[in-house]
Amino acid sequence: MKKLTFALIIACTLISCVSQAQTEKKENTVTEAIMGRRSIRKYQDKAVEKEKLQQIAEAGINAPNAMNAQGWAVRIAQNKELISGIRGTHGGTALIFVAGRNAVDCGLMGQNMMLTAYDLGLGTVIMTGPLGGIKGNADIMKKLELPEGMELQFVIEVGYPDEQPDAKPRKMDVIKFLE
Ligand SMILES: Cc1cc2nc3c(=O)[nH]c(=O)nc-3n(C[C@H](O)[C@H](O)[C@H](O)COP(=O)(O)O)c2cc1C
Repeated sequence: MKKLTFALIIACTLISCVSQAQTEKKENTVTEAIMGRRSIRKYQDKAVEKEKLQQIAEAGINAPNAMNAQGWAVRIAQNKELISGIRGTHGGTALIFVAGRNAVDCGLMGQNMMLTAYDLGLGTVIMTGPLGGIKGNADIMKKLELPEGMELQFVIEVGYPDEQPDAKPRKMDVIKFLE
């Protein structure tokens, strides 16, 4: 009987520890993603599932945006040839193009997308470097079918990561509390 009681106490303690750990993990998901996300520039040759790209895009359009005008457009390419033909990409198996009228709105959308991708086990890198090449390529621009007045702001390469870069040090003295 003593042994049974002891076993029950141990089991309950374990269950309580696991459940507490799960609660803590859930509570810290956003902060963990913000601090854990890094730009990924080396990818596995493994296609990203369309459902995950849809989920990432939906997280993007849920970003705050000025006057809820939602003046943005998201295009997703999975065609290997198209992606590898864009200079500055790194072998990711999907590329998200973000265009819009308001750069702040688009930036918020971009971070939502990257954090969701991270949450789904995917790597990303946001880039403006390839924009010149894209804008100069009439075929790609035609495929994008961007609405009138919307400027291509950046692209986000997505894929299964094949590297785990360390965080680049941040300059802490940019943060100041007012007296
Ligand atoms: C507006 C913008 C443009 C960027 N353009 C490029 C780019 O063209 N190519 C690239 O490899 N990374 C690009 N990056 C990624 C940055 O280099 C990266 O975010 C920065 O070095 C910090 O590293 P981390 O993302 O791992 O924290 C860009 C980031 C931003 C926000």
